[in-house]
Amino acid sequence: MDYSLIKLKEHGDKKGLLISLEENRNIPFEIKRVFYIYGTLDGVTRGKHAHKSLKQFAICTSGKCKFLLDDGIKKEIVELASPDDGLYIGNLIWREMFDFSSDCVLLVFANEYYDTEEYIKSYDEFKRIILKKEQLAV
Ligand code: TYD
Repeated sequence: MDYSLIKLKEHGDKKGLLISLEENRNIPFEIKRVFYIYGTLDGVTRGKHAHKSLKQFAICTSGKCKFLLDDGIKKEIVELASPDDGLYIGNLIWREMFDFSSDCVLLVFANEYYDTEEYIKSYDEFKRIILKKEQLAV
């Protein structure tokens, strides 16, 4: 599945900690957009979509949350529980974010501007696209 958990390098001393994020270095693409998700209410699941071509990189700068990642064949759950946990997600991965702590700030970097046309919001449509991709690969 086209995702990876990346342990970010912490720079620390007696004063505290710092993590630096750099385009095409620890963030593995050109950054065109940054957004953050916060104030998520208890029990809420967010996301529930895939992207046709967008790549993203997510970090919980505060608090924690979990991601369900699904490539149409298998599903995996990963937790972002520390500001040094980075999650890269490639295109055509269905994602759902859940179990947000009340203090969670989920920071997301993307390689494209916001474009609603680029979203796949129906799970059935996502499955159809994956099936078509597999048939073309044979
Ligand atoms: P949405 O995709 O529904 O987020 P989530 O699934 O995490 O709840 O986005 C929430 C709102 O923010 C929606 O009105 C679209 C808007 N939005 C932007 O304007 N720009 C962006 O880059 C993103 C990601 C969302």
